[in-house]
Amino acid sequence: TATQPNQSGAGSCPFHAAGEPPVAPNGCPVSPQAAGFDPFDRPYQLDPAEALRWSREQEPVFYSPRLGYWVVSRYADIKAIFRDNLTFSPSIALEKITPSSDEALAVLERYDYGMHRTLVNEDEPAHMARRRELLDAFTPEVLEAHAPMVRQLVREKLDAIIDRGRADLVAEMFWEVPLTVALHFLGVPEEDMEQLRRFSVAHTLNTWGRPSPEQQVEVAEGVGKFWQYSGQVLRKMQSQPRGHGWMYDMIEKNRQKPDVVTDSYLHSMMMAIIVAAHETTALATANAFRQLLSRPAVWAELCDNPELIPAAAEECLRHSGSVVAWRRIATRDAEVGGVTIPEGGRILMVTASGNHDPAHFENPDELDIYRDNAVDHLTFGYGSHQCMGKNLGRMEMRIFLEEFTRRLPQLELEEQEFTFLPNTSFRGPEALWVRWDPAQNPERRDPAVREAQRDFPVGAPEARTIVRRVRVTRAETEAEGVLGVTLADPAGRDLPAWSPGSHLDVVLPSGEARKYSLCGPATSGDWQVAVLREEAGRGGSRWVHDTVREGIELRVRGPKNHFRLDETADRYVLVAGGIGITPIIAMADRLKQLGKSYELHYAGRSRASMALLARLERDHDEALRLYSKEEGARLDLASLLATPRESTLLYGCGPERLLSALEAGSAHWPEGSLHVEHFTAEGALLDPEHEHAFEVELADSELVVEVAADRTLLQSLRAAGVDVPSDCEEGLCGSCQVEVIEGEIDHRDKVLTASERAGQDRLMSCCSRAKGKKLKLAL
Ligand code: HEM
Ligand code: FES
Repeated sequence: TATQPNQSGAGSCPFHAAGEPPVAPNGCPVSPQAAGFDPFDRPYQLDPAEALRWSREQEPVFYSPRLGYWVVSRYADIKAIFRDNLTFSPSIALEKITPSSDEALAVLERYDYGMHRTLVNEDEPAHMARRRELLDAFTPEVLEAHAPMVRQLVREKLDAIIDRGRADLVAEMFWEVPLTVALHFLGVPEEDMEQLRRFSVAHTLNTWGRPSPEQQVEVAEGVGKFWQYSGQVLRKMQSQPRGHGWMYDMIEKNRQKPDVVTDSYLHSMMMAIIVAAHETTALATANAFRQLLSRPAVWAELCDNPELIPAAAEECLRHSGSVVAWRRIATRDAEVGGVTIPEGGRILMVTASGNHDPAHFENPDELDIYRDNAVDHLTFGYGSHQCMGKNLGRMEMRIFLEEFTRRLPQLELEEQEFTFLPNTSFRGPEALWVRWDPAQNPERRDPAVREAQRDFPVGAPEARTIVRRVRVTRAETEAEGVLGVTLADPAGRDLPAWSPGSHLDVVLPSGEARKYSLCGPATSGDWQVAVLREEAGRGGSRWVHDTVREGIELRVRGPKNHFRLDETADRYVLVAGGIGITPIIAMADRLKQLGKSYELHYAGRSRASMALLARLERDHDEALRLYSKEEGARLDLASLLATPRESTLLYGCGPERLLSALEAGSAHWPEGSLHVEHFTAEGALLDPEHEHAFEVELADSELVVEVAADRTLLQSLRAAGVDVPSDCEEGLCGSCQVEVIEGEIDHRDKVLTASERAGQDRLMSCCSRAKGKKLKLAL
């Protein structure tokens, strides 16, 4: 069978066994794997991302006859669906995935069950009109005020078990704390928690499960009672003076604008939100503890370096999120990943699979608490319906992790079989047994440990907090003025693999960071950099030369790659000037390994000052051309690049004047031939005196955000609750790129090529701005 539907033409059938049953609603035959897929089978229930690996790799959009849904498994396709909520309506988000039996329907009718539109399943324009009215409860300041309440709840629960030595954390607190927080946040009286828990389970099974005919009736009873209960609580709240909480905000808005925040909405939301706000967070917390504790070394790292907790929580949401699939329905024939989904087609976006897509996340199956784009995960959805409560959920997970890593670092996961409530969308273990030796509780030695809390700012994790400690195992002069440094994991594990072009940010004592490219060899489990002492520089390299010795520890971020080697070309010309050889030698190593044709031009002041010569001569002798100025050899770029060569890519690294010469010399080469890496970005930093304020309209989230003269676009987006990944925050890396739909851009970055700039369709949000008064962004 053909296996790349994404590459086949729009609407064409990737599987040419025409006429063979079964056939999808678009007329395409269904592949055997698609025909066999059932989300209620064990593989999906145990690990949805793994169960869809075949789909990510071979058939990323397929029709599942057993489910009657189109299943979408790749990151980019899922995001494209989330982006366009007119073509892909969320109206079925809370529909029963398994239709009710007649008996169950009769039960629901008896309870007058009438779950309709809330926010999550409401179409435009009603949805945004409502959402905008209800955003005030989610500003960072308002959420910040809930932190002490969360902290106290977690602390009390932990106090209750801390001397016990063994517990099921789900039963002891992961369920109840988020439920209490949710009720508190909503302003709903905290009564009958056990009953609410049973109601939630019934609601989940009813909406996303496949209950057996007997279970159907029981589930319907639970759902009916939940509906009644929600109505009673709502009426009680409506009859009281306005109290604190989001539900009271809704009741108030319902009084003021009954056509926007409707009566029917209030009752449906009352029921849906209790689940949305607590079950998601409870399961996410259980998943996170399971994942972290099943990797004792990672847990130990987190205990040693609690600064990483927000990043770790985010990575757990990516790796093992609590919402694993979400639904949309096509309102017209629409193409997704090369497949035409017909109007009325129901879509199951397996976000857990998108979160493991190697096209977006490097080594996606690894739980890497240092990952710097974890925030791109789809567990909170994306676009105008993206989870409103994400920052409350994040806060709860972080406080749980912070209390446990500090007060019970010796915590261990017990050997156990995990069970899950069978459903398509909500996922987390029903119990999580852990044990510890209370005699080792740190607070027995030092009672201050109990109180020594660390707080984190509300919002997405900050990239600059993702810092790793590494030990220097070698620091030797590599060439004149060049220090070669080898770094290893302090606990003796292998450091993560990296790709050619990657660099590390070495954090200086001042908190500033300097970038040093990894030079390899790439496979060794440790990292090598070579640092040129630059007397006239800002002081980073002098600090490295004066301080770095074998045995000391350094703080680094990365590896990060802003200078990726495209491995698809036939031929390569690599050009290095001076210390710019460091990423280039790693590229040469890789090209040699791939058996590609490459030449390596390396220019420097003198042989004695040129780093890594011995290894270059040993490993790349045939490809190597050396230009030592002292010996009168000059690299003549004009003649090297005079004739553009077919399917050849140019990679260059070195001083700015070499890069400019490369850019000028290759201007007549095909667009995209040249790749260079800049290490400084003059002009990227904000100078408020010379800036003007502007406005951005966000098409996906349907918000308008003001960017003041003294703030970057990125800062303004974050303040509005829009998560945009970032890294360098100085226009060098490309991680904060945002698509621009309208408006003239004032580009300040070093990432985009001239024609990418001219296209006026994207910008780096950390530094670039509007030329005029307004931009429209695809965010
Ligand atoms: C929507 C996940 C916590 C309130 C959503 C959606 C997902 C989600 C997948 C649908 C997004 C879309 O269609 O694009 C999660 C996860 C959570 C969490 C994984 C915890 C880890 C919370 C909390 C609250 C909340 C604590 C409330 C305080 C909402 C609301 C919506 C929503 C109101 C509907 C937004 C809209 O349609 O405009 N959530 N959620 N969530 N969530 Fe959450
Ligand atoms: Fe690196 Fe903006 S964060 S370019």
